[in-house]
Amino acid sequence: MSDYAIRCRGLGLELGGQTIYESLDFDVRDGEFLCILGPSGCGKSTSLRVIGDLLEVDAGGVEVLGRPPRDAWHHLAYVFQSPRLVPWRDAVGNVVLGMQLRFDRMTKREMEARARELLDLVGLGADLRKYPRALSGGERQRVAIARALSVEPRIILMDEPFSALDLNTRRRMRDEIVAIWQRTKKTIVFVTHDVDEALVLADRVLLLSGKPTRVLQTIRIAEPRPRDLDASPELRAHRDRLHARFRMLETEVEESTVNQATAA
Ligand SMILES: Nc1ncnc2c1ncn2[C@@H]1O[C@H](COP(=O)(O)OP(=O)(O)OP(=O)(O)O)[C@@H](O)[C@H]1O
Ligand SMILES: [Mg+2]
Repeated sequence: MSDYAIRCRGLGLELGGQTIYESLDFDVRDGEFLCILGPSGCGKSTSLRVIGDLLEVDAGGVEVLGRPPRDAWHHLAYVFQSPRLVPWRDAVGNVVLGMQLRFDRMTKREMEARARELLDLVGLGADLRKYPRALSGGERQRVAIARALSVEPRIILMDEPFSALDLNTRRRMRDEIVAIWQRTKKTIVFVTHDVDEALVLADRVLLLSGKPTRVLQTIRIAEPRPRDLDASPELRAHRDRLHARFRMLETEVEESTVNQATAA
């Protein structure tokens, strides 16, 4: 069995007449927590769609657990920026829905028992019967995480899952996702705009350029968890460098957008 959960080699992609990737390469190791950081519009969400077989590339190849994405989608689960819960089902019902869409081998009772276990794991053991409207933003996102775990994926793809939450909730959710990852040993690919978030979470951070997108830098972070950015000189140094680079990238992207708009 390969050490890689995901391998992307020489990806080329055009969308709407624009070159998104020319030759993008990156790998995700089995069990790794990888954060993808990059300016808006560089193709972070798109990379998750390519991995999840929702979009085909024009060139290059993607392997998920050694197979083409179309043969591996059942090993994947998504968590998006908004939790996408069904309003007429309670927390347990929403997690069960994830399983119903994937599994026909489990009875309803088994699915509910599993849903309760997972909601307990994400800290919602006391809110099992609450409907989405009665849950806070952070609690709803926890239901979405429990739903992702419920399909027993090997890999979880997370697209800015905490960016809509307030700062304190976001910090708590970061600690929790690390704890869940340590307990469940999944591979996590986590897209974010937030330098600090990437540094707190990742085994490795990929910094992407603006379009056509390539990997500008890979940073391996060995610092033990839970991490405190302010207390670690090494993390602080990464933070300062990344903030500076990231600001430059965002400015370049803004400038090229303005140039394109004025040229059009
Ligand atoms: N279906 C589509 N048709 C045309 N262009 C698309 C389509 N989907 C995405 N794009 C373009 O591809 C580029 C990458 O989009 P993507 O959503 O992956 O960016 P992102 O890095 O996730 O950005 P953000 O940080 O703002 O979420 C953008 O320029 C976007 O406009
Ligand atoms: Mg995106």
